[in-house]
Amino acid sequence: MSILFIGGSRRKESINAKLKHRLVQVAEKHTFDFELLDADALDAPIYHGDHEQAEGVPKAMQQLAKAVAAADKVVLVSPEYNASVSPLIKNAIDWTSRVDGQVWKGKKVLLAAASPGGLGGIRGLSHLRDILGNVQAWTAPLFACCPNANDETIAAMDDDFLSTFLSQGD
Ligand SMILES: Cc1cc2nc3c(=O)[nH]c(=O)nc-3n(C[C@H](O)[C@H](O)[C@H](O)COP(=O)(O)O)c2cc1C
Repeated sequence: MSILFIGGSRRKESINAKLKHRLVQVAEKHTFDFELLDADALDAPIYHGDHEQAEGVPKAMQQLAKAVAAADKVVLVSPEYNASVSPLIKNAIDWTSRVDGQVWKGKKVLLAAASPGGLGGIRGLSHLRDILGNVQAWTAPLFACCPNANDETIAAMDDDFLSTFLSQGD
């Protein structure tokens, strides 16, 4: 079982990157095979049809599409902005959906978020699920959200809950 973890914030002190690492710790305990992509791997110009026509899909987005295609599961850890999804993730889905082979079709995708707010980013994940539905991914029913997120609350997330979260789609 290979799991690809992708973060949706490039901020140095990103709480979503910290949640991603917390999930990776749990995956390690269960000896899941995994690959980590940090959010810099999602860096690409905002989708532009003229750009695509002139230069094709950017290299970074082609590599991302390959990594998604190779994984059994993808875990997306996305911050919530104005009750919606990380633009970095949305843009990456837009670009990778333009790569031949429909890399998201049937892909098992698990969604997680951390937020300093009380809702833990769940509204953004609902939007992300809709977007992923459009590219025909399978999204897992259980989200892993960390409200009031900081180092302590992320560390205190329940291991059993996180491993149930990661086992979805097995
Ligand atoms: C433009 C903007 C909009 C935001 N909107 C929300 C929001 O709707 N809900 C929420 O929980 N947090 C919101 N936040 C706060 C983010 O959750 C917070 O900045 C978080 O630390 C971003 O994730 P990161 O630490 O992984 O970079 C917003 C932040 C910004 C900059």
